[in-house]
Amino acid sequence: MSSRERAIKVQVPGDADAMQLVEVEVGDPGPGEVRIRHQACGINYIDVYHRSGAYPLPAPFGIGGEGAGLIEAVGEGVTHLAAGDRAAYASQPPGSYCTARVMPARNVVRLPDAIDFETGAAMMLKGLTAQYLLRRTLPQGGLQAGDFVLFHAAAGGVGLIACQWARALGLQLIGTAGSDEKCALAAELGAAFTINYRTENFVARVKEITGGRGVKVVYDSVGKDTWDGSLDCLQPFGLMASFGAASGPPAPVAVGTLAAKGSIYLTRPTLFTHIATHENTQAMADELFEVVGSGQVKIRIDQRYPLADAARAHRDLEARKTTGSSVLLP
Ligand SMILES: NC(=O)c1ccc[n+]([C@@H]2O[C@H](COP(=O)([O-])OP(=O)(O)OC[C@H]3O[C@@H](n4cnc5c(N)ncnc54)[C@H](OP(=O)(O)O)[C@@H]3O)[C@@H](O)[C@H]2O)c1
Repeated sequence: MSSRERAIKVQVPGDADAMQLVEVEVGDPGPGEVRIRHQACGINYIDVYHRSGAYPLPAPFGIGGEGAGLIEAVGEGVTHLAAGDRAAYASQPPGSYCTARVMPARNVVRLPDAIDFETGAAMMLKGLTAQYLLRRTLPQGGLQAGDFVLFHAAAGGVGLIACQWARALGLQLIGTAGSDEKCALAAELGAAFTINYRTENFVARVKEITGGRGVKVVYDSVGKDTWDGSLDCLQPFGLMASFGAASGPPAPVAVGTLAAKGSIYLTRPTLFTHIATHENTQAMADELFEVVGSGQVKIRIDQRYPLADAARAHRDLEARKTTGSSVLLP
């Protein structure tokens, strides 16, 4: 089976207009692959890093690492999926901004019937990230109910899932966001405290909230603009989890800084290490499906765009106009 499909491609990395909608030929899946027809495609900040060249890819390249749809065919050796299955994924290589694609099966999982396609496309990359951060990226001794953590960009896609999941775990998540409206949203969805880091000194507020102690973990995806302050929010032996750089990469860190800040730990995790195997992907997805299925975590889709409007979607994301998840509809 082979068909003409529509896909967003980048010839030369650059601003949002570097993305063009083109026609592509999509054929049969090879060994270990599936062919999936998207019902919705997720948008993530990593797509901006790919498109802009901040994370270089050999051109021309596709964009997008998240989607949901129907399996049309499976290649040799694929046993966990079959044609006709409803499925969703967070996966490399980029290329989910399209009507249909052939891709590795490893990170594609069956989508529970109770979860619609748009929700599936909006939650896999962001939800599996929240899963590995809150459940696997932990300080010495782990996190217990009542512990304070600081989560930047709390009203964003990953952020709003983390707010709800942290509440379900009994954690006191202090969420930062770039406007009072975004702070109100994060609080509504589970942040115990919020800080507008455009108008308030977040280090001083974290100290005040925690009675001078600081937090056990900082989950920092903002990077350059929050880096120094984040280190100052940690309590001794705390963990700095740097998982993104929406404002640009943080400056290199002198190892001695970790001593000066109180024997702190530093990690720079990526989802793709965690989902390197199908077994890990499925185990993490099962936990995500559980919290979404039980209603503890609701996936907010605050922006929907036609596939052809991918450039507008990226402009909105980069201008910090979005909250929660965004999806493209093919
Ligand atoms: N390492 C991993 O495994 C992994 C996986 C998924 C996502 N991530 C990272 O997690 C972060 C969140 O991803 P997402 O897709 O859910 O995006 P998002 O949070 O919905 O959007 C990014 C947010 O970052 C904040 N931000 C602060 N400074 C910014 C700036 N200078 N330019 C643009 N945005 C800025 C904005 O919120 P405010 O206006 O509230 O500040 C913006 O809404 C991203 O940095 C992403 O790369 C990492």
